[in-house]
Amino acid sequence: MNNPSTVLEVSGLAAGYGDIGVISDIHLAARQGAVTAVFGANGAGKTTLLSTIAGLVSARAGSIQLDGKDITKAPAHARSAAGLALVQEGKRVLHKRTVDENLQLGGYRLRRSDRRSAINGAYERFPILMDKRDAKAGSLSGGQQQMLAIAQALMSGPRVLLLDEPSAGLAPIIVAELLRSIERLKAEGMAIVLVEQLVGQAMSVADHVIALQQGGVVIDAPASEVDNAQLHAAYLGKQDSSTIPAERTRKDLSKR
Ligand SMILES: Nc1ncnc2c1ncn2[C@@H]1O[C@H](COP(=O)(O)OP(=O)(O)O)[C@@H](O)[C@H]1O
Ligand SMILES: [Mg+2]
Repeated sequence: MNNPSTVLEVSGLAAGYGDIGVISDIHLAARQGAVTAVFGANGAGKTTLLSTIAGLVSARAGSIQLDGKDITKAPAHARSAAGLALVQEGKRVLHKRTVDENLQLGGYRLRRSDRRSAINGAYERFPILMDKRDAKAGSLSGGQQQMLAIAQALMSGPRVLLLDEPSAGLAPIIVAELLRSIERLKAEGMAIVLVEQLVGQAMSVADHVIALQQGGVVIDAPASEVDNAQLHAAYLGKQDSSTIPAERTRKDLSKR
């Protein structure tokens, strides 16, 4: 793509498990200082998409470019070294390790002094983690674990951050804090791909919207041009239409 701010470019991507194809012909871009929101009902293929971008699932067709370099076949660790970070669904932090140890692990590639300053940066970004630095990660609240998972992903100094349902299971006040963190990352120039079930909340930070239905893209538009009827329709079809109640989608979207 010609847009100079494009950091991640996914074209015609297909992936699946065993002999089952799950996603196909996916086009998606992540730009500097912008959020690309990915919506879709349960089972639509959102996690498969992020896993394929991160290299945890292999691509069967299409390409993935990071800063203009083709990483379609690169192993996950090489993508991470090249500036891609994934925060997986369900707060994957090491429960038996302390907060500080989890952050150290996130920065394992850094020199010791750089690692320490990155950890200090994480504590500055999420002060609650500083307070809990010697606590076992498993003792943190859900929201704190999510902050830790994000802070850990940021340790490697990524250019693109992939977030898979970061708000899942969190109280509204924590979700608001999470959204502020996302706003700040945007302001710092991070390119973000945000998979969310909370459509209204995600729309409040989104610049571009992708909606998946049964593994294919059904909406691909600037956030300002997506109307809620269209977005709502993306949750209907054969899949679980109860994921996003119509009333909430309308109400949340009308707040913008
Ligand atoms: N590891 C896996 N092995 C086999 N099938 C999977 C695996 N992960 C997901 N799937 C299937 O792929 C489809 C998409 O799942 P997923 O990408 O997790 O969707 P979403 O994140 O949108 O809920 C579903 O039908 C799911 O059952
Ligand atoms: Mg998922």
